[in-house]
Amino acid sequence: MANVLEVGLTGRAYPIHIGGEVLGGVPAAVAELKAQNRPVALLADAEVALLHRLAFDRVFADVPTCILPGGEATKSLAALGQVYDFLAGMGMDRTGTLFVAGGGVIGDLGGFAAATFLRGIDFHQIPTTLLAMVDSSVGGKTGININAGKNLVGSFHQPRAVHISTDFLKTLPAREFNAGMAEVIKYGLLADAGLFERLQQASWSAENPDLPAILYRCCQIKAEIVSEDEREQAASGGRALLNLGHTFAHAIEQAAGYGEYLHGEAVGLGLVMAADYSRQLGTLSAADAEAVRQLVDATGLPVRLRSPLPADALLAAMKRDKKVRAGNLRLVTLERIGRAVTTEGADESRLRALWHSYGAQ
Ligand code: NAD
Ligand code: GLY
Repeated sequence: MANVLEVGLTGRAYPIHIGGEVLGGVPAAVAELKAQNRPVALLADAEVALLHRLAFDRVFADVPTCILPGGEATKSLAALGQVYDFLAGMGMDRTGTLFVAGGGVIGDLGGFAAATFLRGIDFHQIPTTLLAMVDSSVGGKTGININAGKNLVGSFHQPRAVHISTDFLKTLPAREFNAGMAEVIKYGLLADAGLFERLQQASWSAENPDLPAILYRCCQIKAEIVSEDEREQAASGGRALLNLGHTFAHAIEQAAGYGEYLHGEAVGLGLVMAADYSRQLGTLSAADAEAVRQLVDATGLPVRLRSPLPADALLAAMKRDKKVRAGNLRLVTLERIGRAVTTEGADESRLRALWHSYGAQ
């Protein structure tokens, strides 16, 4: 029996179904659309389509399908063009729906294709990585990377539904699972100290019977934040808090070259750096900053740069962050474990010293 949460947006509320079985509730959604003679298409991650071929064949056998590889390189203009060509070729019209099955890469790409093809069609998210289940499939941020930076082209386009099946995680490599745990830790840090403590008390894998409850709590936190500040326009706090650690992370991903660090790996280190920066500002205790470092380390995520990256490039990438307002770099910092705030006017020399202490040159 699936648990259902709602993302409460006026006129565009949608359900997040959380269950075990792969593609559990999806056949009913597909059948309903077909009964209304609306076109249905599938964009799927290649690895997922292969590993779960029987389940996909059962549900999508007669549905036009586009298959693309996961991995950051696919969040590109070239791949977006392939999806547009596919949608045009299969005869997608404005009444149609795109089902998007994969990790955050295929989810962000497919969501952006749905946001823009014919000026916007419906889509459903079927997240298959831990990161996509707890974060990217919920909230309607869609987009691609360009040379100048990550996620710099995109749109807010909410899915009609999110279908989470935790059984997908049984085939997810451990490194990818750990990367997803970085976003889980993020929720504990920004909104729920009790969640952070639970994470400290166990080792986490797809087999942990408490994982669905953790996932549910993460989606609940995200749904609440998105409902209150869908387009990240709050003067302070709001949806920007979900970017805790991400200004550091995006800089690492860009300076190292996309794909060198998994997104979640960069987020893990970003969380450690955000906690350390908060300690230096005097808002977070040294003990709490150390607890963050220990949990990220215990999760198998990097707690310093794997090899030196230029501090200039890292700082330049931070300045292109989407949270910059009127040239002012805003960071998400911690007041304590379980409470994050947005902080204006980051001090460049302090940030430079911080990067050096984590292995930048
Ligand atoms: P990903 O989509 O590249 O997936 C990681 C790898 O796992 C890929 O190789 C994929 O083929 C494979 N895979 C996926 N599901 C699998 C499964 N069930 N079994 C086996 N292999 C599987 O990466 P990701 O970590 O899921 O997503 C990262 C992306 O998400 C980044 O681009 C990031 O910017 C984005 N993101 C977006 C949001 C948002 O709000 N839109 C939030 C967080 C992250
Ligand atoms: N992952 C950040 C957001 O959805 O706003």
